[in-house]
Amino acid sequence: MRISEDTINAIRERANIVQVIGEYVNLKASGKNYKGLCPFHSEKTPSFTVSPDKGIFHCFGCGTGGNIFTFITKIKGITFPDAVRLLGERYGISVTSVQGGDKGQEKYEALFTASRMAADIFHRNLLSEKGKGALNYLKGRGFDSETVKCFCLGYALDSWDYLFKLLRAKNFSPSLLEEAGLIVKNRSGTGFYDRFRNRIIFPIQDNIDRIIGFGGRTLDVAEQGIPKYINTNENAIFHKGKHLYGFHLASEHIRKMGSVFIVEGYLDVIRMHKEGLKNCVAPLGTALTDEQVSFLLRYTKRALLVFDPDEAGRKATLRSIGLFHRQGIDPSVILLPKGKDPGDFFDEYSSDDFRLLIEGAETGLDYIVKYHVALKNEYTANEKITILHTLCEYYVNMNDEILKIEFVKKISSLFSISEHIVLRELSKFIRSERIPSEHIGSTPKKEKMERWVRDELSLLLLLLSNPHLLPFAARRVEESDFDGKWTRKLWNTLLQVSQSDHWDSGTVFASLEDESFINYLSGKLMEEGLYINPENQLIDMVSKLKEKRIRERMSAIDARLINAELSNDERLTNELIVEKQACKHELEKMRVLRSSKTW
Ligand code: CTP
Ligand code: MN
Repeated sequence: MRISEDTINAIRERANIVQVIGEYVNLKASGKNYKGLCPFHSEKTPSFTVSPDKGIFHCFGCGTGGNIFTFITKIKGITFPDAVRLLGERYGISVTSVQGGDKGQEKYEALFTASRMAADIFHRNLLSEKGKGALNYLKGRGFDSETVKCFCLGYALDSWDYLFKLLRAKNFSPSLLEEAGLIVKNRSGTGFYDRFRNRIIFPIQDNIDRIIGFGGRTLDVAEQGIPKYINTNENAIFHKGKHLYGFHLASEHIRKMGSVFIVEGYLDVIRMHKEGLKNCVAPLGTALTDEQVSFLLRYTKRALLVFDPDEAGRKATLRSIGLFHRQGIDPSVILLPKGKDPGDFFDEYSSDDFRLLIEGAETGLDYIVKYHVALKNEYTANEKITILHTLCEYYVNMNDEILKIEFVKKISSLFSISEHIVLRELSKFIRSERIPSEHIGSTPKKEKMERWVRDELSLLLLLLSNPHLLPFAARRVEESDFDGKWTRKLWNTLLQVSQSDHWDSGTVFASLEDESFINYLSGKLMEEGLYINPENQLIDMVSKLKEKRIRERMSAIDARLINAELSNDERLTNELIVEKQACKHELEKMRVLRSSKTW
């Protein structure tokens, strides 16, 4: 679902960035800008800046920045399209998708509405006479009516068509209800029946509180062959690998606490919440995914895994640690007493006990090593090699040099082998297994950006701050002058956006996707008084870019020259010398241009 640029721009023009951000941050005027305490990290003196002129915000403390939509995505933890929808609704601009047309949109809306109605019906059931048993069950699991309400818990009656009939009466088509995962076709294909029967219902909500699906726990504990849980299948609005149970309630607490608990199940989340540990989420009936992890990492870099203390839980813990390591973060692991998942833990222990567990949490690195290295004093060389081989898989998965070094240190001290040798052995495995080298280490985006394309960026920043120079630049610079993926994208965006009359840096940001890049740009743009004589600087920068191209061409010629000389190809040699001469000439022209400062 893509939202049209026109809609996005219309909302951006109508919405007042100071007003919108002002709802979350106490802003005070400071010159042309506004300042306040950054909501994205904790600080005592305001370094969070909003520029209404430029339509952007930036925090000089933590580096977060962007436009009005970026702000909403970050503060509410919602996607860009959702942020657009949210502001659109607020400022009375209707948001329709470009693709799918109205029909697609209607179907989405209908799925949301049907799911919301179903959730309400389930909830009413729970509070009705027929739901007494279910409610008692929940009370027995430690929940009060406030929790039931907060999570909108419900009960699916022990009936084949109670829900189907009610929703049918509201004019929802059977095929829509089937897609929403609420009913199933019977075997003969002639009719439908309720999918959830005699189950506690856990409605699953997205980041803007819409109901998107359900989990249902059976109350037929004794019955054989009935799955304990059933969950909504993937459909147009429910993506189990993307959403997290409880996130809509947890997001503000995750930010406030600076950490997130990840537990296995619905009941665990609810119980943690009830015990005041509200920064807690769970995956949706399946294993945690990369997408969920990177989503959470936008909120906090401190994740605490609290999985069931059984073998399945341990495997899930190891897997999840791997997901975090791939993103360069080491999560912590909380070890629960035998037989207790977070849902049961509090039946016997207090939240003070839990706090002790938090303090005693293990690092993910330690957890991995301890899992694979039995507590033995002596290992034969062969045993060590086997274990190293296993640990190597974790090592190559780690996308952070410090993590890797820590890991090597741990292994080295455990086996009493020098770090140097551990590294050598690991790299042997890496080579023999032919693990693609891009998995081995990576440079932080920002660093890469600055070292490689600093000149390209300077030019683009100059143009963002001095849009009147854009036509001059456009006549001299081409897309291929930009080597960086993001700088090239920014250049193209800039050209495109500048076609319209109303645009500012915020408009440009709307088309960029890379978060660290936007943070970087907003920071640079907030630095005032950067350009004393932008025209002259433009000439400098453009010629620098061009010079770089020429130099590249020259070194390519040099390489071919060596070959030509080696093979005694006189004709080619001469040709290349002439070409090189032409390059030198061009370089000279650039130098003159730079010193005379006239095009
Ligand atoms: N789950 C599932 N399907 C199953 C079993 C489990 O989708 N057949 C998912 C559910 O999301 C569940 C989570 O895995 O919440 C954890 O499972 P489990 O530990 O077995 O359930 P609990 O939530 O601990 O429930 P209870 O305490 O009632 O056993
Ligand atoms: Mn459990």
